Amino acid sequence: MSTNTERQDPQPPPDAAPTRGISVCAPAKLNLFLHIGEKRPDRYHELESLVVFAEAGDRLEFAPASELILKVMGPFRAQCPASEKNLVLKAARALKERGGKQEGAAITLEKNLPVAAGLGGGSADAAATLRALNVLWHLDRPEDELLEIAAELGSDVPACLLSRPCWMAGRGEQVLKTAPLPQLAAVLVNPGVAVPTAEVFATLNARTGVGRMRPPPGNIQTLWDVVAYLDDASNDLEAPASQLHPVIDEVLDALSNEPGCVVAQMSGSGATCLGLFDGGYLALGGAERIAFEHPEWWVRATHIAAADIGEPHWMP
Ligand code: C5P
Repeated sequence: MSTNTERQDPQPPPDAAPTRGISVCAPAKLNLFLHIGEKRPDRYHELESLVVFAEAGDRLEFAPASELILKVMGPFRAQCPASEKNLVLKAARALKERGGKQEGAAITLEKNLPVAAGLGGGSADAAATLRALNVLWHLDRPEDELLEIAAELGSDVPACLLSRPCWMAGRGEQVLKTAPLPQLAAVLVNPGVAVPTAEVFATLNARTGVGRMRPPPGNIQTLWDVVAYLDDASNDLEAPASQLHPVIDEVLDALSNEPGCVVAQMSGSGATCLGLFDGGYLALGGAERIAFEHPEWWVRATHIAAADIGEPHWMP
């Protein structure tokens, strides 16, 4: 197990005008495996997961403003209202309070990922908000403090804050950066059913348990190392989610039947499934065929990022 160097938050250029904004990616979170343990007194389950991030994701922009304002655009804006319940505003308010800031931000969220989809979309947006406003507001809060705020916002938010391969434990709040993984070609498929996480956990009756897996991955160089590492791994939420939504089994079959697909499994609490492919061309071909045969499904060929993918940038 090795730990990567800390994220270097970009500093504003010396000539930065106060009107300059920040743009940041909120990459899709994918669980390469997800083992669930016992339910705890706080009603959350113990879990262990290897979490990675895709190049596909939402995108956010933050412009200086006196108030906090959120506007949602993009293909999934209808499922993601810009209300106070939106995790982006909750994250912004939590950071504003901690940082003792008076100013706000005009936030634009481009919602490219399906909602309630097992891709951690809302969590990724919240985490991207913490990363971006830490820079826009010149707060310079250390990662540890941002991780604390992230854990208060939701179980997936700490991993999304890192937005790089990490090992997740506890209820999700314990995150450990793994060694970089190889960049992997992947296809994401969502059949268009929204799956609330709590419902899937409530249906869970068979757990493989935590502590079953080998320790976090060390030296993983190729796709085949990943496949070997995942050999006895699974997503314990796949069975309860498929029981609620049998279409998930159809998605897994469609992925598994594509040439070059070496791993097909559900991410998080579903319904999105991911296929790991032996090369980008095979992933593109697979995605095209699945999209053609199931025009009602959301299908994306993408890559799993080897390292950090969510760094905020000052806009020109
Ligand atoms: O933390 P978050 O709000 O994302 O969790 C959503 C729901 O998922 C929780 O209310 C709980 O029912 C379930 N959950 C769980 N154990 C976890 C994470 C989530 O039971 N470790």
